[in-house]
Parts: sequence; C-alpha cells; structure tokens
Amino acid sequence: MAEVPFLDLGAAYEELAPELDAAYREVMSSGRYLFGEQLSSFEAEFAAYSGAADCVGLRTGFDSLTLGLRALGVGAGDEVLVPTNTTAITWMAVAAVGAVPVGVEPTEVNHTIDSDRLETARTPRTRAVVPVHLYGRPADMPAVLAWARASGVRVLADAAQAHGARIAGEPVGAFGDAVAWSLYPSKNLGAFADGGCLTSDSPDLIARTRRLRNYGYASRDEAVEVGINSRLDELQAAFLRVRLVHLDEWNARRRANANLYLEALGDLPLVLPPADEDVEGSWHQFVIRVADRDRVRNALAEAGVETLVHYPTPPFAQPVFAHLGIATGTFPIAERLAAEVLSLPIGPHLPSEGAEKVVDALRSALVAHTT
Ligand SMILES: Cc1ncc(COP(=O)(O)O)c(C=O)c1O
Repeated sequence: MAEVPFLDLGAAYEELAPELDAAYREVMSSGRYLFGEQLSSFEAEFAAYSGAADCVGLRTGFDSLTLGLRALGVGAGDEVLVPTNTTAITWMAVAAVGAVPVGVEPTEVNHTIDSDRLETARTPRTRAVVPVHLYGRPADMPAVLAWARASGVRVLADAAQAHGARIAGEPVGAFGDAVAWSLYPSKNLGAFADGGCLTSDSPDLIARTRRLRNYGYASRDEAVEVGINSRLDELQAAFLRVRLVHLDEWNARRRANANLYLEALGDLPLVLPPADEDVEGSWHQFVIRVADRDRVRNALAEAGVETLVHYPTPPFAQPVFAHLGIATGTFPIAERLAAEVLSLPIGPHLPSEGAEKVVDALRSALVAHTT
C-alpha cells in the first residue's frame, strides 16, 4: 500500500468491526438472506436520510440507473440528456435501455451539467435528463428541475457519489423524479460488495422499480413485464444500516480534509474545486485541475501519494460510443477536464498528517518544476 493510499477500506471495516460483526451474526443466524427485515429497514432508513418518501434496494448503482430509466418510461428511440464529463457508466445505462445518450457540457467551475445548455440539446425525442452529482458536488438541481418541468422532461439524478450532499440544506435525494444511488464499497455509503438503490417520492415509480428488480413479477405468481434479478441481500443491507449511522460523521472528516486542502493549496498553479457555499458536497472526490497532470501524478506517486483520475476519457470518446460519431472538439470542456483533472486522497480514514503529506508532495511537484 502507498504511504498515503487513495482510500483505506480496511480501516473502514476495522473502525466499525464490532458493529459489523454483530450484524453479520444476526443475519446469518436469522436464516433469512434475501427480502427480509434488514432490507426493508435499510430502505426506510435510507429514504428518510436522503429526503425521499421511499427507497428500493438493488444490486448495483448501474441497475438503479437502468431500472430508474425504465420506470420513468424511457426506452428505444428516446433521447436522454447526460453530462459530457461523467463516468461512461452513466451513458451506458442510457444505452442499455435502448435510448440514445445526448451529451451536455458541464459548467467550468462546478463540473456538473450546465442547465443553460439543456434547451439547445433538446429534441422532440428527449424523454429524460440524468444530472450527475459528480465528485459529490450537487448539480444545479433547482435550475434543472425548473427547465425539465417546463419542457415535459423527466429527471433521474445520478447520486452515486453524493450520499449526504445537500442543496440549500436539503438532501440531494429530494431533487428529481427519482434518484439513483450506488452503494459500491468505495462510495461514501458503501456495502462490502455490490449494492445500489433508487429513491423517489412517487409511489408508482417505486412500485415499478420493485417489480422490475424481481423479474417483473407484480405479485408472487403474476409476471407482467420482463424485469431482472436485482436484489440487495440481507447481509449487505445490515452492513449498510451500520454504516449509515456513521455517514454524516465520516463525511465531516472528508470535509475537514477538503478544507485543509483548500486552505493549503491556494497559492499553487492549479485550479481548486469550489468551496461549499449554498450547497454542501459529500466530498466523494477532491478533484484539482492541473496542467501537465500526468507528470504531477507521477511525482506524487514517487512521493508515496496515490492518486486517481476521474475520468481520463470522456464517455463519448470511448470505443463503445464510437457509433454516435461525436468528433473530437465537439465537447471541448469535457475534453479539457479529462486532460487536467486529478483526484487527491480524501477518504474518512485519511489522517490530517496524510493530507499534509499530499500538500507537501504537490508543492514540491509544482514549485520545483516552475522555479
Ligand atoms: C456517477 C456514477 N454512476 C454510476 C455508477 C455505477 O455504480 P455501480 O458501480 O454500483 O454499478 C458509479 C460508480 O461506479 C458512479 O460513480
């Protein structure tokens, strides 16, 4: 492991081991491993936490996007507006339901979908928009929702990186027709295997997603459409309930490291993420922009600091989307971000000495090079 690892998931387990081990024993001895009390309790607790009326536990974040789109009625022939700078998975979910992803550039400052560009991207086939709370920074949901309501477009927010994030004091789960969440181990709220869920205020969307996660069965013996098997199992639900109790405190640790970076890196030749003001990010990633990114990344690695790049290739430049025929230069903001972004360690188990080491390494990499 690097001296300053990007994320220390083993430490997350160790800190909660007594509670997690007790949860493991409780589920194992219950004899109930799927569709039991742990799942229904997690669904109720996460809905309440995330500001939504209800929640459906699923097997992955990807399923929460595809089933959410299907529940919203998105399918073959539809177009779905998606940010140009997100993981290719967001675009893939749109393609997986037979719809066409249509890229919308982000704002330069927030890196989230630019609501002023939505109208230009809309066509008569536009059925939905999927804003992504990238790095845990909330997208401008009030503006996206106002536009979507006026345009008859549905909104599925991708909150895979934003557990605990807030807009004007309200959880991001309260913004959108439905909200898709990943519970992958490295997320702010992560299981110890794959996991995901969908939240919504709409009883119809919740009911349809519940049906779709269970092969399309509306009741025990009546199958009304083709669904999939996407169950969040009892063990993972029990582990997630343990972690949910600690989520705000762990997010506060991330925020403390973010503030340390924001204060210490201000004089360096790089672009910092915006500080929290009217929004409260979950600080899933702390992403700087820096020229000569790969050289800086190598220098940090030599100093024992592990970093990642989210994401080096924009979705539209991935081979899987070559058939969309999006030429280089069509989305210059996303291309520039892909060349310059660098994610620094920021997990809840990064001690402040670790963050200080990152600062020193970055200072040496940038100052040594320019003087
Ligand atoms: C923004 C975003 N959307 C979707 C996903 C997919 O989630 P999962 O890996 O749980 O399928 C992820 C995580 O990988 C993500 O970061």
